[in-house]
Amino acid sequence: MKKIIALVMALLVVMLCGVASAETAAPKIGIAIYQFADNFMTLYREELVRYLTEDCGVPAENITVMDGKNDQAEQTNQIDAFIADNVDVMILNLVQSSSAASVIQKADAAGIPVIFINREPVKEDLDLSEIVCYVGADARQSGTFQGEIVAETENKGDINGNGTVDYVMIMGDPENIDAQYRTEYSIKALEDAGLTVNKLFEQRGDWDQTKGQELAATALSQYGNDIDVIFCNNDAMALGAYQAIVDAGRVVNEDIYLLGVDCLDEVKAMVEAGQITGTVLNDHVGQSHTAADAALKAVAGEKLEQYYWVDYVKVTK
Ligand code: GAL
Repeated sequence: MKKIIALVMALLVVMLCGVASAETAAPKIGIAIYQFADNFMTLYREELVRYLTEDCGVPAENITVMDGKNDQAEQTNQIDAFIADNVDVMILNLVQSSSAASVIQKADAAGIPVIFINREPVKEDLDLSEIVCYVGADARQSGTFQGEIVAETENKGDINGNGTVDYVMIMGDPENIDAQYRTEYSIKALEDAGLTVNKLFEQRGDWDQTKGQELAATALSQYGNDIDVIFCNNDAMALGAYQAIVDAGRVVNEDIYLLGVDCLDEVKAMVEAGQITGTVLNDHVGQSHTAADAALKAVAGEKLEQYYWVDYVKVTK
């Protein structure tokens, strides 16, 4: 009888929010974010906590959110503390994806499911346990969309008319697959459209606005009017690059193109105003809800898929 009641409860929960409800023992959830000082991950984290508490009914005191401060050693301590505290599930945005294997081994031994978000571990690491999954967006798609936006401009990205698309690439943290794929697939999309491309400059800006501005300023002073396009792996760096473009007396969409990824509100407004050529919506709402739903499913003992994908969306004027 008890089992039946538990089953009925679990079903009720599914109807409420993917799975959880206050009627079952509320789960203890450990969330580790690679660094709070990241525009996009701040939106993601806030929506994740809002959804878990307001929509899924998990009491706020059951949720612990830690700032890894971009330091894997510090974050490993935080994860170890979650395990020692016997949380029911962890939602992890690793500082370094390469630490996934050791995290999975520890969590699996303790029987704690792990939902990885934002920084995709390699499949062979996910294969180490049945109670782990990755929730994210396929970064190849975001890169492809950036390249397509450029290829779809009236002069097909060759704004200075010299016959090639001469570009600057400002990368995120290159350990991160988002940075690798966006860098690769934005250019691949241009080539697939039959365009000739020429890389003038490529450097890491680590997702950071100030670094984006500095790198764009350096590229602009080095290559001046030769530059047709500045690709940034995210919007924060595109905001920085925009400032450098203004400072260099250049005008976006008139003599240079500028691309980001994330679709931060500020950038969305700038795309509308013609100050940034385009961006790609990195759906933090869809991703955070999917991650929370997966976490609550795992707590209820449901089997997880290995991957949950959320689409990017192309954003132009
Ligand atoms: C990317 C996002 C970046 C940054 C990064 C952190 O998906 O576009 O802005 O937040 O994740 O890993």
